[in-house]
Amino acid sequence: MPPALKVDAVTLFPGMIDAPLSESIVGRARQEGFLELGFSNPRDFTEDRHRTVDDRPYGGGTGMLMMAEPVFRALKAVRKKGSLVILLTPKGRRFDQRTALELAKKKHLVFICGHYEGIDERITPLADLELSIGDYVLTGGEPAAVAVIDAVTRLIPGVLKRSDATVNETFTDGLLEAPHYTRPAVWRGKKVPPELVSGNHKLIAEWRRRQAESLTGDARPDLAPAPKRARSAVKKK
Ligand code: 6GU
Repeated sequence: MPPALKVDAVTLFPGMIDAPLSESIVGRARQEGFLELGFSNPRDFTEDRHRTVDDRPYGGGTGMLMMAEPVFRALKAVRKKGSLVILLTPKGRRFDQRTALELAKKKHLVFICGHYEGIDERITPLADLELSIGDYVLTGGEPAAVAVIDAVTRLIPGVLKRSDATVNETFTDGLLEAPHYTRPAVWRGKKVPPELVSGNHKLIAEWRRRQAESLTGDARPDLAPAPKRARSAVKKK
């Protein structure tokens, strides 16, 4: 059977992606053939003696940029008809659970990881999509690729033992999840909420919904549905 998802990463540092994605659930998904992960290293597509992949920016400034040609060749080596090419950059659209669900439907994803100060801008139009994982600066796109590949892999049918684990979870319904507890029922004097040990499924579901709503309102008001307010007929000045 071919894998459910093939992912190729264009990167100067394949180990930064391969190692973390060899552990735990994603590591098992690779071993079991749900995910096939490949790498294309721009350094392998250079022709000079020093295998040069970076150069100084035109117009001056600090740091080095990845040169367009080695990245272009590394991409060309893995890109096929139907591939979705994603450039990882802090300038990209914010990655979220909805995007993870969209990417999980694809057959082939190619991630281009910038490093140093980034990649020559002429590479940007080769990407179908630019993604960022948040408003902070990483040393390169590799840790972002790990986060995106992890979030997408766990959505491939069969990767999680209980696939309903992805149905009621944080963000899927736009709320943070209610708190979870396991045994013992009393730990260092702290009790598990009585609703959860009641055995009453309706009561448990209602408790979880209330918890999720108040938790989201407190911790992430930006996620919570806007409170319904009577709109004033008069414009505020
Ligand atoms: Cl995708 N790349 C880099 N270098 N930094 C980031 C990022 C990506 N997303 C957030 N910060």
